[in-house]
Formats: sequence, C-alpha cells, structure tokens
Amino acid sequence: MIIIIILIDHINTSPGTTANIKQIVLGRCYDYITMVKPSYRFKCEEIWHEFEDTVIRKTRCNVKDKDYERMFHAASQTPPCNKLLFWSKTRQHIQSNLVTQSYWTLENTLVGYMFKDLIWCGQQGRDRGFDFQSCPEWSTCVSHPVYSLWKQASQNFAAAACGNITVLLNGSNENAFNRNSMFGSVELDSLNPKMVSHVHINVVPNSEGPFVESCSKGSILKLIGVLQTRGFQWSCTDSGVYVY
Ligand SMILES: *[C@@H]1O[C@H](CO)[C@@H](O)[C@H](O)[C@H]1NC(C)=O
Ligand SMILES: *[C@@H]1O[C@H](CO)[C@@H](O)[C@H](O)[C@H]1NC(C)=O
Repeated sequence: MIIIIILIDHINTSPGTTANIKQIVLGRCYDYITMVKPSYRFKCEEIWHEFEDTVIRKTRCNVKDKDYERMFHAASQTPPCNKLLFWSKTRQHIQSNLVTQSYWTLENTLVGYMFKDLIWCGQQGRDRGFDFQSCPEWSTCVSHPVYSLWKQASQNFAAAACGNITVLLNGSNENAFNRNSMFGSVELDSLNPKMVSHVHINVVPNSEGPFVESCSKGSILKLIGVLQTRGFQWSCTDSGVYVY
C-alpha cells in the first residue's frame, strides 16, 4: 500500500527546490564579486534575503516578476555597451568559453550567474520556507517563481542593452525565431531603439545540418520584420560554422 502511494505521488510531481540552494546562491554570488567580475560591488546576503523573502511570502504559483523588484534592486547592474548577446536554442554555443570571453549574455550578469539551472518554490499552505520535495511545473502555475525571475532578469537585461548587440539563433530549427521564447516574447520587446544602434543576427545551424532556416527564409524574416517596424538598424549573417 505504501509503495503504491509513493509511486502515485512521484508521478504527479516535478523536482523540488534545489538542495542547499542558499549555500549555492551565496557561494556563486561571492564567487562572482571575488573572482568573476571583481569590479562590481554587491551585498550578497542582502540579495539572498530579498530573494528568499519574495519566494516564501507569496503562494508558490503566484510569484510575479514584479515581486522580485527589491531583489533586482539589490543586484542592479549595468552591462557594457556593444557586448550583449541574446540567444535562443543555441545553448551549446553559449557554453563555449570563446563566446563568454567576447560577449555578455544574461548568464554573465550577477542574477543569471547566481540562479542558473536552479529550481525553487515555496511551501504549499501556510508553512514558510522552500519546498524541497516538489515544485509545480511552469505550465501549471499562473506565475511560477522560477519563470518570473528569469522573465524579469531577461527584461532588465534587454532594456539595458546599448550600442551593437548580437542575436544568435539556431538555423537547424523550424521557428529559430519563436515569439513564445524568452527572446521573442520578452527581450525583443524590451530593446530600446534609441539605445541600441545595430542588431546583428547570426543564424547558426548544426555543422552537420539540417539547414532549415537562414537570413532569407523561415522565421528569421519575421524577426527582421519586427526590427524594421521598430526602427532598428540590422544585419544578418548565415554561418555554416560559427566564427567567433
Ligand atoms: C540547434 O538545434 C538542434 C535541433 O534542435 C540541436 O540539436 C542543437 O543542439 C542546437 N544547437 C545548439 C548550438 O544549441
Ligand atoms: C556596430 O556595427 C556596425 C555595423 O556592423 C559597425 O560598422 C560598427 O563598427 C559597430 N560598432 C561597434 C562599436 O562595434
């Protein structure tokens, strides 16, 4: 009987809050201000406190992007002009060191660095604290605490973009540019044409293909259309193999 209950319980849940989340987030924050970007000054304990407070104060499926305002205020950061890189479905490229040396992605900001790949949610009911047993799927929540943080982080990142920026899209995908992705639904609309002087699109398929989309076909044309309508200068390059 007990075994059956455990199995049923297991089917209906997704992983809970990442174990040791406080130690991980604080550790990454100190790593960032000490080793990664020592020119920045942040109060790591205060950022953690604002984060924790936001997540456990609200019901677990109702943490909105604006609820993280105090945390983002404590972690406020201006990324450098001419270096920002936005990407969608090209994670493998982004993880290469060459990219991170020459560009800034969201993962190079303090918040992106601290929360990358982590999961969190508050307890159900009135118990305060994180739920380490299970968290809801993004799709089942009105405002999922993880989604809302990334949404706000993406919005801040794009709104701060200035000078030349690069957009890296995956030419092996139908819908390389997807209006429902974080880039298509949040970042693109947050870019400011008065601050961004040039948008460079780079379409990169897998070296062995398939070669589905390019600067002249598929969803990339929709992106170009949006950029033109909003008055951005743009260019687009197809590269069989990505050149950094
Ligand atoms: C591009 O998309 C393909 C198909 O979805 C995927 O296999 C590949 O890993 C993606 N490339 C990168 C660089 O993430
Ligand atoms: C920005 O992009 C344009 C067009 O590609 C280029 O001519 C210019 O040199 C770039 N400026 C900087 C600061 O990278």
